[in-house]
Amino acid sequence: MTILEVQDLQIRYGKNVVLDNVSFRIERPSLVAVIGPNGAGKTSLLRAIIGLVKPSKGKVIIFGRDSTGKVAKDIKARIGYVPQRDVINYTMPITVRDVILSGLLEKISPPRTVLSRTVEDKVEAISHELGIEDLLDRFFSDLSGGQQQRVLLARALVKDPDILLLDEPLSNVDEVGKYEILRLLRNLVTSGKTVLLVTHDINIAIEWADYVLLVNKGRVRFYSARISEDMNKLKLHYPEEDRKILPGRSPYCA
Ligand SMILES: Nc1ncnc2c1ncn2[C@@H]1O[C@H](COP(=O)(O)OP(=O)(O)O)[C@@H](O)[C@H]1O
Ligand SMILES: [Mg+2]
Repeated sequence: MTILEVQDLQIRYGKNVVLDNVSFRIERPSLVAVIGPNGAGKTSLLRAIIGLVKPSKGKVIIFGRDSTGKVAKDIKARIGYVPQRDVINYTMPITVRDVILSGLLEKISPPRTVLSRTVEDKVEAISHELGIEDLLDRFFSDLSGGQQQRVLLARALVKDPDILLLDEPLSNVDEVGKYEILRLLRNLVTSGKTVLLVTHDINIAIEWADYVLLVNKGRVRFYSARISEDMNKLKLHYPEEDRKILPGRSPYCA
């Protein structure tokens, strides 16, 4: 079954069309890098996939189910989302433990009065995997940008999602941290998960992604498997603004 299919998607804010004719398909667990300049519509695309933005045209199909504009609860439970960190404003004194725990709430049925040992264990296990176990009782707002990114990733991963939508999860993360997170993402793909990774960094896309989706000026300009020759072409042309989809390339991956 197709994991994710986006068909002829259009997103507009008022009269402003920010994405148009966006179509692509992910058929097997992969790491898909979504790249493009600021304002290209990358965040809007992720938000449309998760149902936070209602598209003005087109369809989003997740695990074979029409999820356009509204994602059913059971499907949502299978999606982990890390929003762009700079849009998050945590002025509340909330601990890292509670931020991560909040990622599980979609999966825990009420009443939530008593959190079971297994839930606590899950939080500890994922924190260990991301190297943030020492931060659990600190306030989220007191952490560095890179630490916050790891916490947000832990929050998305704690519910063991099948699809991860990550909006610039590597910003503010140092080089070693980037490498560790990317390794983790590759391991997730190996274990059958699909990752959409929004990044500015074309080199990361080339080195780590299975597919690259280039969004610019409201359109998908390029969608290709990681074939070195194609990637070199892509590199050559990025961020030239008027690229059309390169000849001979279908905007679909099989
Ligand atoms: N909620 C919104 N209301 C109006 N315009 C928006 C909104 N969100 C984003 N935009 C506009 O849509 C365009 C794409 O934004 P965005 O999806 O955030 O791009 P990216 O993540 O690639 O930087 C930008 O021009 C931005 O100003
Ligand atoms: Mg963005």
